[in-house]
This record gives sequence, C-alpha cells and structure tokens, in this order.
Amino acid sequence: MKVPFFKLTIDRADRREITKTLDSGWLTTGPRCAELETLVHNQAGAGHPVALSSATAGLHLALLALDVGPGDEVITTGFTFSATVAAILYVGATPVLADIDPETLNLDPECVRQKITGKTKAVISVDIAGLPCDYRALGALCRKHKLKLICDAAHSLGAEAQGKTVGNFGDVTVFSFYSTKTVTTAEGGLALCRSRKTADRIRRLSLHGMDRTTFSRDKKSDWRYDVTELGFKYNLSDLSAALGVARMKRLDSLLSSRAQAAGRYDLALEPLADLIDLPPRPYQFFQAWHLYIIKLKTKRWRISRDTFISEMKRQGIGTGVHYIPVYHLSAFARILKVKPGSLPHTERAFSHVVSLPLYPELKAADIKIVASAVSEVARRFASAGQDTEQGAKEDALKMVDKPLPPGQH
Ligand SMILES: Cc1ncc(COP(=O)(O)O)c(C=O)c1O
Repeated sequence: MKVPFFKLTIDRADRREITKTLDSGWLTTGPRCAELETLVHNQAGAGHPVALSSATAGLHLALLALDVGPGDEVITTGFTFSATVAAILYVGATPVLADIDPETLNLDPECVRQKITGKTKAVISVDIAGLPCDYRALGALCRKHKLKLICDAAHSLGAEAQGKTVGNFGDVTVFSFYSTKTVTTAEGGLALCRSRKTADRIRRLSLHGMDRTTFSRDKKSDWRYDVTELGFKYNLSDLSAALGVARMKRLDSLLSSRAQAAGRYDLALEPLADLIDLPPRPYQFFQAWHLYIIKLKTKRWRISRDTFISEMKRQGIGTGVHYIPVYHLSAFARILKVKPGSLPHTERAFSHVVSLPLYPELKAADIKIVASAVSEVARRFASAGQDTEQGAKEDALKMVDKPLPPGQH
C-alpha cells in the first residue's frame, strides 16, 4: 500500500510511560488509571471519570447505571458501529433507530423527536468522525421529555460544539481508547459522568460489583471486601492506561495534526467538488477528525462506491466504509427488523460514503498521493449525468453479508 488506511506510531514518550509502569510493580487498575481519569476530566473541564476496558463496556454500564432495562426504549442511530446498539440489547432494552442528518451523518434531532413514545427512557447520540451532534437541540429534547442522554463519543475526544467541550452534554459520555483512536490504550474506554453517584455505580459494576478496589485494599493492607451487586470485569489495566496517559498529554498536538491533514484534504479535493461531497464544517464546531469521510455524488460516476474503493486499492490507497448500518448486520437484522425505506438518509449515506486515510502522522505528500488517486479514478470513471444509483444499491446489499475487516471500526 502506498498509503494505508491507518498507521499507528508509538513514540519514545509512549514507550517511556509503559516502561515506567512495567517497572513499578503494579500492572492492574491503580494510579495510572487514576492519572488517565484526571487528564480526561481536566480536558473536558467537568465530570466524574471511570476508566474501563472499552467504550462498549462504558455504554453497557452507563445504561445499567441510569436504570435502563427491559421494557424501556432507547433511541439511537443505525449509522454507527454495532457496539452502540449491542449495549442497548445487553441490558434487555429495545433499540429504536432514528434517521440521520444527511450532511453531518449524526442523529437528526427532529427524527429522534418523532420516535419518542411513553416507553422511551434514553437517547444514545454518536459523534460520527469526531463531529459533535447538535447537542443544543438534542439536549433540549431530552430535558423536555425527561430522557437520559448518553453520548457515544468514541470518535470525539477533544471536540467542541457550540462553545462546550465533548463530555459536557450527556448524563454519561463514553470515550473509546481502541487502537485506531487518537488516544489509545490498545483496548480501553472511559465513562465521564455528570453525577458522582452514576460514576460510583459504574466503577463498582466494572469490577465485579465489589465495594472496594484491589488497589485501595492493597494500600490499607485490608483483605475485606463485599460484592454488593452482580458486576462485570470491565476494568482497565494500569499497563494500558500508561499508553493512554502518554497520548493524552499530547492530545492537542495529535488533534491539530489530524485537523491539519483534514484541511489539506479539503484543499486538494476541492477541484473535485462536483463529484464528491467533502465533510461538513459547521460553524461553532471544533472537530476531532477521527475520520475523513467523503460522499460520492454517485449520479456523476459510472462506477459504484464499492468499485471506487477497489480502484483506490489498485492505486495503493487503503480506505474504509463508516458505517454499514447496524440493521444490515445479520445478528441485528433478525432483532431490529427495520422496515425497508424507513431510514432513507442512513441507507443513502451507506451507499455513498468512503473514509480516506487519516492519522496524525499522515504527511502532506501522502495526502497529495491520495488526492491524485481520487482524481485518477475520477478521470477514468466520472461522467456527466449518468445515474449509477442502482449499482450503488446493489453493492450496498452485497455488503450486508461481509464482515468488517480488522481494524476498520
Ligand atoms: C461509534 C463507536 N461506538 C462504540 C465503539 C466501541 O468502542 P470499543 O472498541 O472501545 O469498545 C466504537 C469502536 O470503534 C465506535 O466507533
């Protein structure tokens, strides 16, 4: 590959923090997790943080801690990674999918409003690609209908919307530290809670339901503990947290490298604006740029989105698709039973989107190579006026059976 879809660079500071923890004699949940929690709290300027083994665990425990369970409906988007919807099913609640804004690809507050019933207990928003949702509208809607708001901020650590940092919008905000994320712990996540009570419950549930952690008992040489409710093994290790601490300390520079790369893509791809839609840049939003998603104006192409991806691969460029709608995935299709045509913007987005390579170390030269490859594919396959909508739809259906390649969610 000339430019892979994703590349992880571990620098000296990352190695130093990991070695420090290896040498400390304490590898599981302890002071490094606490340090990571403090850094995330300081970054958001609010909230009670709990480090966890993944964002998936965070979403699961957030729902439990907010007392969402059987008989409750939770409104979310189908245009997300499956974990967002899986968490709702883990607690026995019913996922209700609302459509997205075709431009931002985030939940459309008006579509959420239309799905509210007497059984609705919560909303899970997802900040696709690192662009925060319209929280002014979503927050007002949730307050009006007394709904809990959980923000799946797997993509948006460090982003800002309408004057506030992500972490300040929901009852619980969940970050992911998965390997492709700006701040990674290899696998990991963090729940940032509005109330201490919610955070305490999440912390307890993340470690078997024990009333005291091993680290706090170790400090007091106290062997006693109680398990006060049935919990899970969702804690983060200090060894993992050490990597997160190193990367959190340079979050600003990682974010600005990503933003710079996104800006370079905008400039390089602008001449193709009649063939592709570039990511939106809404006023008053600071994006975390986890992904750079373009949308093909398929009416202007003689090839479908999937063929475009194959052609990019032939040019040596790795790309991704974010996302296959969750209800297309077979395990979820059986449960969710989404009516064909009921989420038109989600469907349309799926058949048009392509994620280009984006990571902090992506060089200006790499972006030129990617942009030239897009131009080359356009030169060969773009055409004025021919409609390939049908081809895109067929490809979208074929995609349903394909599992996600590793590292692409
Ligand atoms: C939108 C979204 N939500 C949730 C998750 C789950 O994150 P994790 O792998 O940390 O459990 C991901 C993973 O990438 C994601 O993209």
